Amino acid sequence: MERVQELAIIRRAYAKQILAAVQIDDPALELAFSQVRREDFLGPGPWVIPRWSGGCLPTPSADPVYLYIDNVVQIIAERHLNNGQPSAHAKWIASASIKPGEHVVHVGTGTGYYTAIMSHLAGPSGEVTGIELDADLAARAKENLSSFANVRIVIGNGAAIPFEAADVVYVNAGVTRPADLWLDSLTYGGRLILPLTTNEGFLANDPANVQRRGAVFRIERRTHEFLAQWVSPVAIIPCEGARDETSEAARAEAFKKGGWKRVARLYRNEDVPAERCWLRAPGWCLAYD
Ligand SMILES: C[S@@+](CC[C@H](N)C(=O)[O-])C[C@H]1O[C@@H](n2cnc3c(N)ncnc32)[C@H](O)[C@@H]1O
Repeated sequence: MERVQELAIIRRAYAKQILAAVQIDDPALELAFSQVRREDFLGPGPWVIPRWSGGCLPTPSADPVYLYIDNVVQIIAERHLNNGQPSAHAKWIASASIKPGEHVVHVGTGTGYYTAIMSHLAGPSGEVTGIELDADLAARAKENLSSFANVRIVIGNGAAIPFEAADVVYVNAGVTRPADLWLDSLTYGGRLILPLTTNEGFLANDPANVQRRGAVFRIERRTHEFLAQWVSPVAIIPCEGARDETSEAARAEAFKKGGWKRVARLYRNEDVPAERCWLRAPGWCLAYD
């Protein structure tokens, strides 16, 4: 069998496995994972696979087969910056419910692998805007995604750079609060995928303590209100420009008391009674119904 065919089969098996790992049944997402070549986004191999338990494992060779596992892959060692875990992204991207023709904004594109996955879901009539703070990474993403006609890469702070109205804002770095820009830019029916994280590092393989723990929430805009739903736990590096100490303290308090799975709404005011709030910070809260 030709190598190209062999890798196509391996990619199809990988797509099935990672969706099964998070119990997602989504044929369009499975097809996207089976068609995007992860090796095109991670530079020349061999690659380095960080282990949650500590240390890193270089792949035995530059054979792309080693990338079709449910693990993060190192992008920049000194910053502990990785290409995220495929099953975790499968769950978050599925929760964004991207439909053909939609505009997706990806904050924290990195080198572009998950931008490419979402480009497949948005399709030729849709559009993906990838925003990346790090100019070198943005340049790599631009090159890696040059054949994806519906993708545009922007260099800068995704919490501050204005963008066209978005059906989905997919944030890939940890925040303590939703940026006003993201909520204001959502279409009616638009979805924001938001990783809320702490200020404390925790991983044994991360002596610089940059990985932060927290939870991902799906926020959906309904004309004048925002529905909110817990999606999953997360460990991710911080999002520059979408963190503040007051929200961080409120977030830490909220996680201590539990109950995040009952969160049902996001409010952009301070009028909600304290007993209905899971997390209350100046100007916003996550609340129960
Ligand atoms: C956890 S990495 C994920 C990269 C990519 N999504 C992947 O999985 O390969 C987070 C990325 O967010 C970028 N980032 C952090 N804060 C940002 C901001 N305010 N605006 C845009 N990008 C940001 C970082 O430079 C980094 O590339």
